[in-house]
Amino acid sequence: MGVTAVLMLPLLLLGISGLLFIYQEVSRLWSKSAVQNKVVVITDAISGLGKECARVFHTGGARLVLCGKNWERLEILYDALISVADPSKTFTPKLVLLDLSDISCVQDVAKEVLDCYGCVDILINNASMKIKGPAHKISLELDKKIMDANYFGPITLTKALLPDMISRRTGQIVLVNNIQGKLGIPFRTAYAASKHAALGFFDCLRAEVEEYDVVVSTVSPTFIRSYHIDPGQGNWEASIWKFFFRKLTYGVHPVDVAEEVMRTVRRKKQEVFMANPIPKAAMYIRTFFPEFFFAVVACGVKEKLNVPEEG
Ligand SMILES: NC(=O)c1ccc[n+]([C@@H]2O[C@H](COP(=O)([O-])OP(=O)(O)OC[C@H]3O[C@@H](n4cnc5c(N)ncnc54)[C@H](OP(=O)(O)O)[C@@H]3O)[C@@H](O)[C@H]2O)c1
Repeated sequence: MGVTAVLMLPLLLLGISGLLFIYQEVSRLWSKSAVQNKVVVITDAISGLGKECARVFHTGGARLVLCGKNWERLEILYDALISVADPSKTFTPKLVLLDLSDISCVQDVAKEVLDCYGCVDILINNASMKIKGPAHKISLELDKKIMDANYFGPITLTKALLPDMISRRTGQIVLVNNIQGKLGIPFRTAYAASKHAALGFFDCLRAEVEEYDVVVSTVSPTFIRSYHIDPGQGNWEASIWKFFFRKLTYGVHPVDVAEEVMRTVRRKKQEVFMANPIPKAAMYIRTFFPEFFFAVVACGVKEKLNVPEEG
């Protein structure tokens, strides 16, 4: 009996792996069909995550509108997409110059896209501006710029495209946010404030537009690494560590986040957090034991200030 059980174990594992593989393949194909022929606007398609979203949605057969601040980088992305995908199964993307902190430019872009395609099915608000430093050293002007790029820009674009979605009773708006939209972290005042504001706006909007079958989704990763960190050759310990704790140590890869965005669109998910257990636990602690959370964060700041600056 014991020997049979031991022999059965590899077969059972093989069967489970096979089923998982089939499930993943079916969900990949299902994801693709969910965006086929759909008009999808991606803001800042040239960033690490934006590029991966462009690739995933392009191969899925979406009619892409790729927005970015830099025309040359948009053209490089365009060439990369066109050269890889099968032209009989994909659409030629439209490129649009867009600086989200220029509100009149945002409105013009929304009009241009609607004039061109007649509608927008999915809007992915991905662009964002980062800043790090003590609050008293960051100018109010910069605070406002961050708010424009991360809050007023995305909401202006959303408001410009929303009436069309409401009248057609279909559409999906995805906000790529950050866990800092839920947690305040020192030295990120302007960024965290803009992410809190954006999350608040889209949480309210979700309830408002549900009756028109317009879906609002927020995807909040912790840290997206935009490069590959490979362990040195022969460093098997690092490889095992990477295999098991990759997300914990190095953050999520943009490819994983882009695939999660695609899944979010397909399953019409409302809220996704891509975080390892520590930030997830921090969110609960912040909610239920705020004083403890504030004390831990303040300790971290004191320790950081006590470390002598390098150089
Ligand atoms: N990186 C992370 O660890 C992380 C973690 C969680 C969430 N996220 C979120 O994921 C999304 C994508 O992040 P990412 O890391 O892929 O991008 P990223 O590397 O942070 O790059 C930011 C991009 O946004 C562009 N941008 C800045 N201001 C803009 C504006 N006013 N209008 C248009 N584009 C503007 C920048 O263009 P220029 O370079 O030309 O200025 C750059 O391409 C963002 O919403 C971010 O908040 C990122």
